[in-house]
Amino acid sequence: MPGDVILLGAPGAGKGTQAQILQKRLGYRQISTGDLLREHRNKGTELGAAAEGYMKRGELVPDDLMIKMVEGELQGNAGVLFDGFPRTAAQAQALDALLESRGRGLPEAVYFEISRPLLEERLLGRWTNPRTGRIYHEKFSPPKVAGTCDEDGGPLVQREDDKPDTIKKRLDVFEAQTMPLVAYYRERGRLATIDATQPVGHVTHMLMHAIGVEHAH
Ligand code: AP5
Repeated sequence: MPGDVILLGAPGAGKGTQAQILQKRLGYRQISTGDLLREHRNKGTELGAAAEGYMKRGELVPDDLMIKMVEGELQGNAGVLFDGFPRTAAQAQALDALLESRGRGLPEAVYFEISRPLLEERLLGRWTNPRTGRIYHEKFSPPKVAGTCDEDGGPLVQREDDKPDTIKKRLDVFEAQTMPLVAYYRERGRLATIDATQPVGHVTHMLMHAIGVEHAH
């Protein structure tokens, strides 16, 4: 079984894109806390209602809610790709404790390094299929027919938090609250850094190399 991996990076760095590719190719299980929260919101659960305001404003949902949600998702033997979690020191510590208590070993983190102007361009041009989560970009990975998913023909939408003001807020929050995790994992010898400005296929290659699975497919 491949080990668990944390995809660490700013909004728009390409974590979700890569998690979807590795999930298909290598049998990993993606745990995207953003996707899970959007599912809760669409189903109208208590957690979804509690998270909605934070997400709309581009702020982080409180740690206790997030840690409880991830705990509930951790089952099965497949290696997990954590996408969008942890995002604070408290979440990182809780995740280490949780995985150790389940005998899973400590996860490696891969930091997606990329500049802010490119992040803004990626988020402003992103379109997703809300039913499947499949991600597109109008310029960098366009669907065959604009506004329509290649896989199931469903309509593509832009995320509510991909508006200029909310994007700015999300990037500020990342720098203040999540960026310190790069040092957290580096100090523990569990960090690899990849150049996330490269095209999708190249980033996949670097990511697979970083987590030692480049010969697995
Ligand atoms: P979440 O859904 O996790 O959003 P995010 O972290 O802001 O990340 P994104 O999904 O925006 O970016 P990504 O890195 O996955 O990029 P993608 O692959 O789509 O979180 C949303 C909200 O939920 C948060 O604001 C918060 O409120 C809450 N939340 C979630 N987790 C939380 C937590 N742990 N604690 C507290 N609150 C939490 O790519 C972006 C675009 O670029 C796409 O259009 C894609 O096609 C394109 N692209 C990707 N890779 C490339 C490439 N290599 N070259 C060119 N284009 C590319």
